[in-house]
Amino acid sequence: MKEIIMPAQIFSGKTLAGEQIGHTIRTVGQIRDIFAEGVTLSESQARETAYVVSSYLPVDEGTAGGLFFGITELYPGKVGSEYYMTKGHFHSRKDTAEFYWGIEGEGVLILMDAERRIWGERMFPGSLHYIPGNVAHRVANTGNTILSFGACWPSDAGHDYGSIEQAGFAARLKEVDGHPTFVTP
Ligand code: F6R
Ligand code: MN
Repeated sequence: MKEIIMPAQIFSGKTLAGEQIGHTIRTVGQIRDIFAEGVTLSESQARETAYVVSSYLPVDEGTAGGLFFGITELYPGKVGSEYYMTKGHFHSRKDTAEFYWGIEGEGVLILMDAERRIWGERMFPGSLHYIPGNVAHRVANTGNTILSFGACWPSDAGHDYGSIEQAGFAARLKEVDGHPTFVTP
């Protein structure tokens, strides 16, 4: 008799649930160094949640040929004139791409290639983003509600946060006259 089983993980279209779903929380205090220098955070703002990543990693990190799936919920807010954003990273394996797609809220996907060329793509419910290999990616929430987006990436991609920690992105996305604007240092 051939069995038909229930999947152990459920993606409702908005949230991800199941035994194997992990959650990573980043507070504003934990990511304070990604924002422009010179802005002092209050203790209460430092304790705020900046974003939560729920992820389904069905194979070990580093496995060739596998896929990972994640949902990021990025809270609204600003540090100075800079929007709450993800840390951002290159993939450690340079030839690995990724899909992002907008689920709720609005924001901007900030992309930077190896030559430090920057561009942005608007994110909104239904937006679909192909992030090529060797392109750093970071998301900023430019709205007043939670920005939720999905991600699917190769299980051997790995994350290189160090390059961004050291050199940053070549431009910052700031609110200027009420609009998201790239500002170069
Ligand atoms: C995975 C990926 C996303 C991010 C998540 C949080 O490769 O790009 O799942 O990991 O949106 O952003 P970071 O990892 O930059 O803090
Ligand atoms: Mn990625």
